[in-house]
Amino acid sequence: MLWVKALHIVFVASWFAGLFYLPRIYVNLALVPADSHAERERLLLMARKLLRFTNLLAVPALGLGLWLWLGYGVGRGSGWMHAKLAVVLLTLAYHHQCGRLLRVFERGENLRGHIWFRWFNELPVLFMLVAVVLVVLKPW
Ligand code: HEM
Repeated sequence: MLWVKALHIVFVASWFAGLFYLPRIYVNLALVPADSHAERERLLLMARKLLRFTNLLAVPALGLGLWLWLGYGVGRGSGWMHAKLAVVLLTLAYHHQCGRLLRVFERGENLRGHIWFRWFNELPVLFMLVAVVLVVLKPW
């Protein structure tokens, strides 16, 4: 089980690396002047590749967590695990929204400013903080 937990932590950290960096690219995309097509295309290419990578990394991160929970029964019926799963659902919704925002940028229809994306970029920090505190401290 320790191998599963170790790999779970590695893939969770890798998944979140993508969730931390993708909105950063959106901050830069929101700042690109309308006539800088080369810059815009370069950032869109980076975002597409990173989103594909982040999608891939979410699968083992979640799969290994489910294996610990359902396979080994760790946290089954515990309040901290239910709260952690709620944070995971919020993280998945955030990940999905990152995909939708990229499609808005690709269509050239983004109306949000860079300040909005800077605040949006802070959310995964909060999700990770709460999930790690719940699973390590197991407060209830
Ligand atoms: C479907 C999603 C997930 C499930 C079912 C899940 C389940 C689990 C379980 C059962 C453990 C073992 C806890 C223990 O041995 O005490 C664990 C460990 C851990 N999980 Fe998750 N997890 C999920 C997603 C996440 C996410 C999104 C994060 C961070 C943002 C995370 C961070 C951790 C950490 C840091 C540990 C190690 C805790 C320790 O060793 O005390 N997990 N996870």
